[in-house]
Parts: sequence; structure tokens; C-alpha cells
Amino acid sequence: MQSNIKDTDESRQGESMVLEGKEGNSKKLFIESYGCQMNFSDSEIVASILLENGYNTTSELEEADLIMINTCAIRHKAEDTVRKRLTEFNALKRKKPSLKIGVLGCMAERLKTKLLEEEKVVDLVAGPDAYRDLPKLLEDVDDGRQAINVILSKEETYADLNPVRLGGNGVTAFVSITRGCDNMCTFCVVPFTRGRERSREPESIINECINLWNHGYREITLLGQNVDSYLWYGGGLKKDFDKATEEQKENSVDFAELLDRVAVAVPGMRIRFSTSNPQDMHESVLRTMAKHDNICKSIHLPFQSGSTAVLKRMNRQHTREEYIELIDKIKSIVPNIALSHDIIAGFCGETEEEHKETLSLMEYVKYDFGYMFAYSERPGTPAHKKMADDVPEEVKKRRLTEIIDLQQVHSKQRLESYLGKVHEVLIEGNSKRDENFWYGRISQNAVMVFPKTEGTKVGDFVMVRADSCTSATLLGEMI
Ligand code: 5AD
Ligand code: SF4
Repeated sequence: MQSNIKDTDESRQGESMVLEGKEGNSKKLFIESYGCQMNFSDSEIVASILLENGYNTTSELEEADLIMINTCAIRHKAEDTVRKRLTEFNALKRKKPSLKIGVLGCMAERLKTKLLEEEKVVDLVAGPDAYRDLPKLLEDVDDGRQAINVILSKEETYADLNPVRLGGNGVTAFVSITRGCDNMCTFCVVPFTRGRERSREPESIINECINLWNHGYREITLLGQNVDSYLWYGGGLKKDFDKATEEQKENSVDFAELLDRVAVAVPGMRIRFSTSNPQDMHESVLRTMAKHDNICKSIHLPFQSGSTAVLKRMNRQHTREEYIELIDKIKSIVPNIALSHDIIAGFCGETEEEHKETLSLMEYVKYDFGYMFAYSERPGTPAHKKMADDVPEEVKKRRLTEIIDLQQVHSKQRLESYLGKVHEVLIEGNSKRDENFWYGRISQNAVMVFPKTEGTKVGDFVMVRADSCTSATLLGEMI
């Protein structure tokens, strides 16, 4: 059964994705993605750009003329996985010298020329803001020139591109609304690999959502490193909002308003969003969630550590007390809310007492779900430059295990709280274990598996009573 707990590096690993091809395209692209949802969403943008430039996607490595690997740099282990994969791709290239290999995403941005010039394991390097340049970079490769673009942009949001939907279930899709991050958490490489925060124009977001609805999609997740800080005022970086004209400021759109507009524009669509950051999660967003039935009652709200002292070292913009206040407010405004988290165990200088504060915060909130990691020092980050990574590996591991064990208890308790009740479920596909069962999720994001009945199909909303549960899945029956 699928686990709802993501251990240190169980982030989505190397899924290759494929879509219907375009007639006349003669070349084949194999694209594989690692890491966060943003990367998976970006791969769809890359595929749509290359589709217009002669490449259809394939899920068969052997058939590929071009392999693109969209990478994650958030933890050391994520980069290791990609390096191993690059070795395998290079073995293929020795058999088929015309094969081109490109590296995309955060690792491309972090290592810049290294994989191309020093290690010579790729032909092309493109950072997260350089995907429009891919056709030209591929020409450079053909002409024997260095093909690299790792320039981070102030404006790029790929707003006008309609991403092709790779491989999914045809029912749930990601819609990216912001790019980059201005938060500068000291442990995090993202502000360096994905650049400064910018928001995508609301009309293009709404049009994409309507388009998805018209193509049969029934759930969208609005994506960004920090969705609650979404702010559209006519373009440019979030940090330059102060320089906007009065008119731009008056007509600006924040996340609560965007969410409201999307909920109204596609009333039959389920809407989720991720990721939220405590300091930016304003009451207006909670009120919008409470107002619309089609906004799912689940919030992913990383807190990283339950200790104010650690949060300060992490340069997080909230204290333990502020976080607890926010949780109380969320629970009072949006009843039945499901909460999930990200936690880092063993950050620089973390004492046993500080670790216990993380456990006690978990006890207080009782999260449905969580992503939990051991701290992994990343070159170039403020923590790497200024702090010692001084918690021994075995202590980090033991603390992480305690956190995971506790989350498992809470996840089970939360699932049990859904039993005996009837939930609206969006059917996403067959249960992996048994084709006679559907797989779907309730508004609170918990997975529900239930026997198929005649006349139901993928994309239907059905009412299901939860009768029992395993550690990560509800089992129910349609009513
Ligand atoms: N080490 C461990 N976990 C990290 N994260 C970000 N940077 C690191 C790091 N250096 C985690 C945070 C973040 C999630 C996406 O990844 O918990 O919220
Ligand atoms: Fe990294 Fe912090 Fe930004 Fe999240 S909010 S992407 S952890 S800097």
C-alpha cells in the first residue's frame, strides 16, 4: 500500500512521462523528472516547447534521440540519484553516439558548466528559466557549440505556454502560479537555483484552468514555492512591488483574490494549492477556502522545526508561537481542515530540547501527513557559509525516525477520524492492488479505495462511506 510518509529522499523519483505526439515530428524525446511538483510541471512546459520543434515524447529510452533529465538539488541524495542516472544514459550514448543528453532544473542551475565542461556527461545545460531557449541550445549542440543557458529571469513565468499534460491520469493537473522564492531560508538552495519570486498573470492562470476543465480535468493544484505570497501587479519581481505605480497597486491581485477567481471560473473543478508558508498565509485566504466548496480542505504548511531558536537560525519568518496561533486560526475558520508539513531533523546546532519542541508541536497539531528530512548541507547556502553542520549523522537519523514514527501515529489517528463518514471522492484511476477497485482522494487529500460499481468512470465525483483504513488508505463503499 502506498505510504503517506515521505522519508528523507522519497521525493518523486525519476518518472518518465509521455504524451500523444504531433504528426510530422520525427525525433523522440525521453524526459525524466525528479523532485518537487514544480519540476514535473516544468517538464510539461519543456515537452510543449520541444513538441513544436520536432520532438514527440517516448517512454522507451532506447528509442530516444534526446534525453532530458529534470533535476532536483534540494538534498545531497537527490543529486546522487541524478548522477547515477547520467552514468546510465552515457552508457547508452556510447552505443548510439547521435543521442543527446540534456540536464534541466535545479542541479543544472547549481552546477552550471560543471556537468558539461568538467565531467562531460551532458551535451546541454538549461536552468529553470531558460526553457524557451532549448531549440536554440539544441542547434548549438548540432553545430558542436557549447549549449548552456543558466540565466535566471526577472519575468519568465511561461504564462503564454499551454503545457502539454504528460502521462497523468487526465483528471488532475498542476498549474504553476509563481516561480522562484524570496524567503532565503538558510538551509535552502532554491532561491539560488530558481531565482527571485515572480507571479504569473491571473488571466493566463484562469484560462489554463478553464482549458483544463474543457479537456476533462477535474482537479487542479495551484503551484509555487510560496503560493500565499502570490502578487500580480502588472509584472516584475515581487520584491519590486514598492516601485509599482498607484494604479498598478490598486489593480493588484493577491492569492486570496486569485483563489476566489479560480474557484468561480471553474466551479465544478476541485482546487488545491501548494506550498504555503506560515508568514504569508493570511486570514483572507482562509475565508476564501471556507467560502468555496470546490476548494479542497487541506493545507500543506511546512514548519521545519518546532523551536523558535532553530527557526531563527533557519531564517524562517515565524516563531513557534506564531505558528500555533495560525494553526488555531485555520482550524477555527476552516473546520475539517487537513494539515500537512515539512520538517527538517538535525539542523545546525539543534539540541535535544529543540528536537523535542518539534515533537511537541506535532503533538499539538496532529498532522494528517508529512514530508520529513534529515538536514543535508547544501553548498553555497547561508547555513553552509555561516553555520556548522554539527549534529552527528546518527543523531539526525534517530531524530528523524522519532519524527516519522510520531507522524505515523497521527496519520493513523487522522484516517480513523474519517471513518463512518461519507466523503466526496474524485475517481483518479484503478487501485494499484486490484482493478476491481477505484482509487481516489477525499477533499482532505486522504486516499480512498472502494469497489467499482457500474456506470462510474475516472473523473467522476462520487460519495463514498469510509469503513476501515490501513496505515495510509481509507477503504470504503459507494453510497
Ligand atoms: N536539507 C534537508 N531538507 C531540506 N529542505 C529544503 N532544504 C533542505 C536541506 N538542505 C526541505 C524543507 C522544504 C522541503 C521542500 O525540503 O523541509 O520545505
Ligand atoms: Fe526554500 Fe524556504 Fe523558499 Fe521553501 S520557502 S523554497 S524552504 S527558501
